[in-house]
Amino acid sequence: MTFKTERCIIKPISSNDKQDLFSMCDDIDVWDYLGGSNTANFHRANIENLEKHLPDPNRWTIRDKKDNTFFGYLSLGTHHDGEDTELSYLLLSKYWGNGYASEVVSEMVRYVFNERKLKRLFAETQSANLASCRLLEKLGFYKLRELTRFNAEQSLYAIDSPCKINEIKNTLKQTLDNKRFAHTLAVCETAVELADRFGVDKRKAYLAALLHDCARGLNEEQQRTYCHEHGIELDEYMKADINPVHALIGADMAKQRFGINDQDILDAISRHAVGGENMTLLDKVLFVADGIEPNRAGSDADEARLAAENDLDKAVVLVMTTIKSYYLQGKPMHPNAIKMIKKYTHK
Ligand SMILES: [Fe+2]
Ligand SMILES: [Fe+2]
Repeated sequence: MTFKTERCIIKPISSNDKQDLFSMCDDIDVWDYLGGSNTANFHRANIENLEKHLPDPNRWTIRDKKDNTFFGYLSLGTHHDGEDTELSYLLLSKYWGNGYASEVVSEMVRYVFNERKLKRLFAETQSANLASCRLLEKLGFYKLRELTRFNAEQSLYAIDSPCKINEIKNTLKQTLDNKRFAHTLAVCETAVELADRFGVDKRKAYLAALLHDCARGLNEEQQRTYCHEHGIELDEYMKADINPVHALIGADMAKQRFGINDQDILDAISRHAVGGENMTLLDKVLFVADGIEPNRAGSDADEARLAAENDLDKAVVLVMTTIKSYYLQGKPMHPNAIKMIKKYTHK
């Protein structure tokens, strides 16, 4: 299958590509990030045997759409875990920094999800290759873990299929009541707006918002049973007040039931009820979006909305001290919330 992007053409590999592919093996800068000369030699041997594997539906060259100049190489393969599919991309170093990688990787992401119907795609890059890490993060990949391979620290990234989001939505529609489901969708919208405003990954904000109240379908008894069965330990405060417990269960369900492995998203979900003193920007975005989504009426919500125009910390404090405090009904505030208010109240 051949693909076209704005400036590139991505064509299935053929025996005519051999010389161009060999030229890549001589590009020292490329192999600097890929395990050095051993890996280059491995690729050289692969290219020698290219014909044996043709036609190959999983390897492509990247060329200039206008004049066919060779830019680099793309492939899909089974990841070292033996299960997931991994995207690899190599560009000749003289074409780095022009946005070509971003162009072709985003096209491949579209292809694997829309046409190959994959649920998840991996990409691994050396942690020292900051440009590659940034590129993947910009395209919505999240870091799964770091590992050592080819004698260097590698960052393993993943991106989930958008179909998965629809599946999650359908499940939530069945497990949450109408009001809670509408609230969830509204929090998603507000979280994405805030993420855009404060430079947070919008995809992470969306997923965290989508799943933040996923445990709200459980009643108190079911929540206590869930905690018991899943080893979720409750502090004294949460033993006495079930309300914030849905955040802890929500994070656990997001991982176990909905397959979210991104720790940033899971942390934001688990902190969305009572906050904490070391909130990330993503945590704050979800926390505030939960409090100011358009269905929240009243002057307190309006005040927090106004603060969220430019001061996320102020909005966090307002949401906790006003909107979320309605649920306290005379009970003491959770110690994490108290610490959070202290930390994020500007002196
Ligand atoms: Fe909640
Ligand atoms: Fe909520």
